[in-house]
Amino acid sequence: MRLDKINSDNAFNYAYLLKRIYPYIKPLTFRIAVAFLLAIPLGLLDGATAFVLKPYIDVVVNGNTLTVGGYNLTRDFLAMIIPPGIIIFAGIQGVLRYLNTYLSDWISITISNSVKIDLFKKLVYLDSKFYDENSSGLVISRFLGDPDAASKQLINSIKTLITSFTSAMGLIFVLLYNSWELALVGVIVLICAFLPMTFLRKKIKEVSNKGTVVGGNITTSFNETYKGNKVISGYNLQMDTYNKVKKLIRETFSLQMSLTKRTGWLSPIMYIIASIGIAFVMLVGNKLIISGRLTTGSFASFITSLLLLYKPVKTLGQDLTGMQGIFVAINRVFELFDFNTRIVDYGKKELNFTPNNIEFKNVSFSYNESKEILHNISFSARKGQTIALVGNSGGGKSTIVNLLPRFYDVNKGAILFDGIDIRDFSLDSLRNSISEVFQDNFLFTGTIRENILMGKKDATDEEIQKVINASHLDEYIAGLENGLDSKIGENGSSLSGGQRQRIAIARAMIKNAPIVVLDEATSALDNKSEKIVQKALNNLMKDRTVFVIAHRLSTIFNADKILVIENGNIVESGIHEELVNIPNGKYKNLYNMQFKNRELEVV
Ligand SMILES: Nc1ncnc2c1ncn2[C@@H]1O[C@H](COP(=O)(O)OP(=O)(O)OP(=O)(O)O)[C@@H](O)[C@H]1O
Ligand SMILES: [Mg+2]
Repeated sequence: MRLDKINSDNAFNYAYLLKRIYPYIKPLTFRIAVAFLLAIPLGLLDGATAFVLKPYIDVVVNGNTLTVGGYNLTRDFLAMIIPPGIIIFAGIQGVLRYLNTYLSDWISITISNSVKIDLFKKLVYLDSKFYDENSSGLVISRFLGDPDAASKQLINSIKTLITSFTSAMGLIFVLLYNSWELALVGVIVLICAFLPMTFLRKKIKEVSNKGTVVGGNITTSFNETYKGNKVISGYNLQMDTYNKVKKLIRETFSLQMSLTKRTGWLSPIMYIIASIGIAFVMLVGNKLIISGRLTTGSFASFITSLLLLYKPVKTLGQDLTGMQGIFVAINRVFELFDFNTRIVDYGKKELNFTPNNIEFKNVSFSYNESKEILHNISFSARKGQTIALVGNSGGGKSTIVNLLPRFYDVNKGAILFDGIDIRDFSLDSLRNSISEVFQDNFLFTGTIRENILMGKKDATDEEIQKVINASHLDEYIAGLENGLDSKIGENGSSLSGGQRQRIAIARAMIKNAPIVVLDEATSALDNKSEKIVQKALNNLMKDRTVFVIAHRLSTIFNADKILVIENGNIVESGIHEELVNIPNGKYKNLYNMQFKNRELEVV
């Protein structure tokens, strides 16, 4: 499920693409039909001016007579009626054009939005592995950019395709009406002008796909510049970052130019072929006039419509070339719809009880094929116990706790709640039973209240106040001008590390789940705020089954079981007193190295 591995096999399988886009088109069928119907007179009216040139020149200028349906149209009548008639036609065309544009914009924005909404739903339900594998920029360009490109351009192109086509039809009718021999010459030339278009498909597909990947990388770089601005400044990485983005932007230049190189000659070639056509028509037309088979009016009308025909034919050509790119984008969009979360929610049971026993049974896990991270892990936790995980960095502690809410599924073995595999529970009920405080606590843009309420949407003010007190946020919040409704900036940028953690703890606390997962970040807290956070955590852990990645001594001393995790194995397990007494034990070493000094500071 990597977004940069684009599979374009279906890009030109139009029937397949239409079938997929049909559900989005179906509710709008009526409006689409109206838009297309409007396009027909809109195009046909293009031929009107050319059409009236014949009677104008033959009757008004040259004084011939014209009979239509038994009525004799006089010179004066036509002289009076044709000029205002042209203006009226243009007026009608203007109104139709406005309506058509309004309607097609309405349709394309509606389609694009429904696709985006559906894709976003898809995105939020995708599994953690998807987010590991794909960069934010690529996700943005593929989930936002492509639907726009696909649906807006599709409708626009179809609209211009129809107007150009009907316009061409109208003009060709005028050609035929004036002289079928000449029309034959004109149409054959036009067909020749079209042919080069068909050679371009492959190149367009290739460039368009590469463009998406590079565009995504650029967006990612922008995101990183934003998030990493302090690292960039602090490590003087401005020039490196600049060079990286410069290189990417230059890459888009060569990609775009390679497309222009291939497609840029189309228009001039078509123009040359069209001129050849006009030259031919003049030669043949001259002969026809001399032999008396063509009037001057017909000839003028013919040449005018031939000249007018160039534009719609050119647009048709451009549209058909452009459509190829659109189909590539549509294909990319529907490729995303085929992405499915690997965390399958097939569990029928509701986890509506507090498990008496949580067991990891011979669990093996790997993030990808290349390396197994957890090897045959087995341990269990009884209701109300605190299980502490300690061990070297990168040993697999976070990985173990991330398996509980099924951010990832085990490869071998199982996690059992009272003997039932967690995959047999509905994902919703499983995750409702677990409160997490993550190693990197993410807070959302918004207010403190909004962030806390994410733990329980319908919490009362009383409940909020309770968790604020329990997470020792009361004093801090009381000092804020807007209190609970103060904005915290993107990812809590206006908060201190300890405040961020305590808001995350409050969020977990208000969820009031029977199982608590704590991936402690000891990081940058000073003694005082460490103590406050510790108190908050103690409140969170009360009367619950807790899995804690422990960096704090008090958590470890009080833990009912300590698991020492090293390189994906449980190397020791027991309570503190047992483990410190193992001669040369891993825990003993770790304890001596890591915790003993902290004892002096913290306790
Ligand atoms: N999303 C991921 N994709 C691929 N590999 C990963 C991913 N997350 C972690 N790993 C790898 O899995 C191993 C275990 O990582 P984990 O985060 O579980 O370690 P940890 O014990 O929590 O370490 P720390 O104490 O530093 O937080 C590491 O080798 C890490 O590189
Ligand atoms: Mg970790």
